[in-house]
Amino acid sequence: MRKKIVAGNWKMNCDLSETKNLLEGLTQSLPNLLSAEVIVAPPFTNLQFAFDNLKNRPIHVCSQNINENDSGAFTGEISVAMLKSVGVNYAIVGHSERREIYNETDELLKKKVNQSLKNNITPLFCVGEKLPAREAEKHFDVVKEQIEKATFHLSADEFKNIVIAYEPVWAIGTGKTASPEQAQEMHLYIRELIAKKYNQTTADEVSILYGGSVKPANAKEIFGQPDVDGGLIGGASLNAEDFVAIIKSF
Ligand code: PGA
Repeated sequence: MRKKIVAGNWKMNCDLSETKNLLEGLTQSLPNLLSAEVIVAPPFTNLQFAFDNLKNRPIHVCSQNINENDSGAFTGEISVAMLKSVGVNYAIVGHSERREIYNETDELLKKKVNQSLKNNITPLFCVGEKLPAREAEKHFDVVKEQIEKATFHLSADEFKNIVIAYEPVWAIGTGKTASPEQAQEMHLYIRELIAKKYNQTTADEVSILYGGSVKPANAKEIFGQPDVDGGLIGGASLNAEDFVAIIKSF
């Protein structure tokens, strides 16, 4: 059965001492029995520190991005092998900020998905429509295209190893959340899309996370939807108390 997951995307926040404080806060207040897998994605410079400090804790370390190549002349980039060597086993791929600010295309994201699966790193593959598409009722088409173009070349067995995060761009960092009904509707749509392409068993095994202004106050209702398997949390993951409250919402 699919996993429940709560992942914190720290984005470009937290230097080393802030990382230390946030991880301390997290590990101190995290309950022993967790009802969801917990993942944190600090900036690259703090991944090794996070891994070393979370070794005996049930918290996985995730990178916020990966490069699609094995190695070579790619100044400023970080390879999957480097990430693996410091204990990373998840990677956020295709976050809307990467798509938007760094012009990451579906074609590039397909390569990144391949690169992470080839190296046994689970991609948290992000999809989601912008506000004009939602207003024009094109949100299902946008998400369908994003999923088809970057992931539907995979075999069913490969597909089971990815996690999808539905993040409507208009809800990211804006304080606006999709309603639980809007989240459920899209998550069900994605699951049906996977079932149609592969089969129901595969669709039932893939975790689909919701992201976009998830807070302690709304997490329970969103996570309570049948096809929502957890969340990708930005702002609220920078506060240990809030992040733990969200984890406890399951
Ligand atoms: P937010 O970010 O929770 O701050 O809206 C979510 C994300 O970007 O993954």
